[in-house]
Amino acid sequence: MHYSSTAVVLAALSAVAASEKTCLNQTVPVTISARNGNFSLAAPTNNIDAAAFVQNLSRQGQNYSSAVLNGYNTVSGTYNISTQFCYDNARSGVNVPLQILTHGIGFDKTYWDLPYNNYNYSYVNAALAAGYSTLSYDRLGIGNSSHGDAVNEIQSFLEVAALRALTTQLRSGSFPGVAQKFSKIIHAGHSFGSIQSYTFANLYPDETDGLVLTGFSLNATYNAFFLAGGNFQLASLNAPLRFGSAAAGDVQKLQLASAYLQALDLDVDVGLLSSDGAAATPQDLPAGYLVTGDASANQYNFFLPGFFDAGLLAQSERTKMPVTVGELLTLGSVSPVNAFKGPVLVITGSGDLPFCGGDCLTTGTKYPSIPATVALSFPNVAPENFTAYIQPNAGHGLNAHYNATGAYRYVSEWLKDRGLGA
Ligand SMILES: *[C@@H]1O[C@H](CO)[C@@H](O)[C@H](O)[C@H]1NC(C)=O
Ligand SMILES: *[C@@H]1O[C@H](CO)[C@@H](O)[C@H](O)[C@H]1NC(C)=O
Ligand SMILES: *[C@@H]1O[C@H](CO)[C@@H](O)[C@H](O)[C@H]1NC(C)=O
Ligand SMILES: *[C@@H]1O[C@H](CO)[C@@H](O)[C@H](O)[C@H]1NC(C)=O
Ligand SMILES: *[C@@H]1O[C@H](CO)[C@@H](O)[C@H](O)[C@H]1NC(C)=O
Ligand SMILES: *[C@@H]1O[C@H](CO)[C@@H](O)[C@H](O)[C@H]1NC(C)=O
Ligand SMILES: *[C@@H]1O[C@H](CO)[C@@H](O)[C@H](O)[C@H]1NC(C)=O
Ligand SMILES: *[C@@H]1O[C@H](CO)[C@@H](O)[C@H](O)[C@H]1NC(C)=O
Ligand SMILES: *[C@@H]1O[C@H](CO)[C@@H](O)[C@H](O)[C@H]1NC(C)=O
Ligand SMILES: *[C@@H]1O[C@H](CO)[C@@H](O)[C@H](O)[C@H]1NC(C)=O
Repeated sequence: MHYSSTAVVLAALSAVAASEKTCLNQTVPVTISARNGNFSLAAPTNNIDAAAFVQNLSRQGQNYSSAVLNGYNTVSGTYNISTQFCYDNARSGVNVPLQILTHGIGFDKTYWDLPYNNYNYSYVNAALAAGYSTLSYDRLGIGNSSHGDAVNEIQSFLEVAALRALTTQLRSGSFPGVAQKFSKIIHAGHSFGSIQSYTFANLYPDETDGLVLTGFSLNATYNAFFLAGGNFQLASLNAPLRFGSAAAGDVQKLQLASAYLQALDLDVDVGLLSSDGAAATPQDLPAGYLVTGDASANQYNFFLPGFFDAGLLAQSERTKMPVTVGELLTLGSVSPVNAFKGPVLVITGSGDLPFCGGDCLTTGTKYPSIPATVALSFPNVAPENFTAYIQPNAGHGLNAHYNATGAYRYVSEWLKDRGLGA
């Protein structure tokens, strides 16, 4: 086990302490298994194939996932998951509810605890202030968690198995370094992280107490906008200092070129020339790991003009994370009916692109919003325990908009009203 912070062991009953955020960063092994799709597809190794893959996946009139599906494989293994457990010193130990936070495509666990502007966009800080502890983690395959084969290994259901393993550890008190058994666990997700939280709740309805699905709907009509708008390229070619091979000479040359161009103040692609993470070894990601092409593609998919800080877009571009072709092929594998019986909040930005086509409130149907139809998928949830809320003045990357803390307040109050508060 690798601890990237000094090990902090929580006392079962802490003395009265001043309110203070404390986080434990660690890599946690999980032994998991899932039924994955066996796709007959060579992982893209260059940008022609990366674009061709997206062209195939977004073509109207066909289901490309289904066209290349050639049966199923059981994939099993022990994988490392990079986690961050945060708690408020003043509350540790006393039956604190927990939120498990699953990020979406393009981000890692820092999406929930954005350091930008002295953490004033931090979902984690808001959750701690509302009385929760949090566990955020890099999804399997992404960030500092184990990477893997981009076609047949890193797929949605194996990632859901990792989410389940972490949840089980936290419920049973076996999560390393945290001497506590959580009996009230809320699963909150963003985008693909919401899809995985939704799937987890359907497969194991007794293992979660509530769902907060942010940046989400079940309407797949606008997925193609996201795929096309992303201008996806091979991660190792688009941002070689972060995702390319570790060939020392190449990295050094790129760093020098980057510093030179930045010194000239040229309008260069920050994703390509980012020095963020350049001090660490580049991840040398295999074929089939893709990233959004540039800051404009990132903006199109995640940010609503007028309601975000350009500096935060630039920061998101510098720290952008990849998606595997296996994830893109399986993100639509969602059960239309969910077995979960407890409280479900869907909260989506009014201008969400992938799940609402840029406008959640223009439906042309009897429903007040596109996310409102998610209610139809939860036949076992009492009407008073389901809400589809449209956060005004926000795009898909809810946490990265000016009024993110307004959305966090809504979430905390909603949970409290349903008996899921601290
Ligand atoms: C934990 O990791 C985050 C980045 O994810 C970093 O900002 C923070 O300083 C780390 N905390 C500790 C205690 O190492
Ligand atoms: C997966 O599909 C390939 C063909 O693309 C096939 O050769 C292989 O046997 C399949 N694997 C399993 C476990 O079915
Ligand atoms: C795209 O689809 C075509 C025809 O279905 C196939 O020949 C090609 O290999 C696919 N390319 C990628 C990168 O998925
Ligand atoms: C997990 O991390 C440990 C320590 O960093 C390392 O020794 C081990 O090989 C890793 N396991 C996997 C599956 O990556
Ligand atoms: C963070 O602070 C900046 C600058 O004060 C402000 O413009 C922005 O609205 C704040 N964002 C959040 C989420 O509180
Ligand atoms: C990932 O690991 C690198 C190198 O140790 C570190 O600089 C970075 O903060 C980590 N990021 C996250 C999100 O854990
Ligand atoms: C496409 O096919 C896959 C695999 O058969 C299935 O899980 C998915 O629901 C289908 N997607 C759509 C939009 O029909
Ligand atoms: C709503 O959810 C709460 C918390 O799980 C539960 O106690 C309550 O019974 C639910 N209400 C109904 C009408 O099912
Ligand atoms: C998706 O939303 C659009 C706009 O409201 C609507 O026309 C379409 O019927 C919806 N599709 C599904 C499958 O609900
Ligand atoms: C901020 O968000 C809250 C919660 O959704 C909402 O009530 C408020 O109107 C929003 N403010 C602005 C300026 O969008």
